[in-house]
Amino acid sequence: MELDWKNLGFQYLPTRGHVQCDFANGVWSKPVVKSDPHISLHIAANALHYGQAIFEGLKAFRAQDGTVSLFRPDRNADRMRLSAERLVMEAPSEDLFVEACKLAVRENLDFVPPYGTGASLYLRPLLIGTEPTIGIKASETFSFLVMVTPVGPYYKDGFSPVEALVMEDYDRAAPKGTGRAKTAGNYAASLLPGLIGKKKGFPIILFTDPKEGKYVDEFGTSNFIGITPAGEYKTPESGSILQSITNESLQTLAEEIGFKVVRAPIALDSLDQFTEVGACGTAAVITPIHAVHYGEKVFRFGGKSVAGVTLTKLYKTLQGIQYGEIPDTHGWLVKV
Ligand SMILES: Cc1ncc(COP(=O)(O)O)c(C=O)c1O
Repeated sequence: MELDWKNLGFQYLPTRGHVQCDFANGVWSKPVVKSDPHISLHIAANALHYGQAIFEGLKAFRAQDGTVSLFRPDRNADRMRLSAERLVMEAPSEDLFVEACKLAVRENLDFVPPYGTGASLYLRPLLIGTEPTIGIKASETFSFLVMVTPVGPYYKDGFSPVEALVMEDYDRAAPKGTGRAKTAGNYAASLLPGLIGKKKGFPIILFTDPKEGKYVDEFGTSNFIGITPAGEYKTPESGSILQSITNESLQTLAEEIGFKVVRAPIALDSLDQFTEVGACGTAAVITPIHAVHYGEKVFRFGGKSVAGVTLTKLYKTLQGIQYGEIPDTHGWLVKV
């Protein structure tokens, strides 16, 4: 497959096919490859009306020797299980999840970008309630689908710092709601605040804790991490944020280079404690944040054009592991 690998964005490009399996009468069907990107759904399917729709996001990377690996698919399987529990859905087992992901990559091997392009294959596992439901109740039938698409770096300018806006007027998820679940509705709720941020010139917005609006929750599509001069890696403890697998991995790496990982509420008024701030997630790994605008206040972290040393080191280490350049001592890579 000849694509312009070096200039891929973060958008859907058609591939050879996706994987589907269906749950009915208590059993999952075997995963099969489908080439038609359209799926057929009953007009009353629960996913369309009552939002039984959850998904995951992970990547496959090509190493220098040509082998292709998934990054920590077991963690995505586990998070899908947690999201499914919250939304009363039947989750695929870890084995089925990983098998379907591998099959989707194998089927589209020539869409996995070559080593050295900075690009990767993005996988989007999706679980939807398919039963026709009019009264509000959980579906008893589900489809589990894995689509893939080749992607470049999430932000056009790559690993360079951006400014964020604290979103004070809108929440993404309620304190005891669905913030920890990766469910479609949370993203629908974030579209308007995201658009408002973009109109004001901010590529990224920061949600506050929905109960008091005083603490940092997370960015629109990524977790918050902050580095202090005392050698701490701080990230918010909150029931309304997604448990990022990138953040989990970075915490392990930060501890290995001597940082103390602190998971605790972070008051918005205390952002001046940080010398480096980043947004972390699968799509971008880390987006360095050089300023956070909070009402009239502006908190600044490091230079406008260069990312801080700690986040740069963590970014390079994680990317190095993903592309097979640094030994994978944690067993994070799963060959397809
Ligand atoms: C709301 C939100 N928070 C955090 C993340 C980061 O999670 P992960 O590192 O597992 O991709 C994502 C997804 O990328 C997200 O959509």
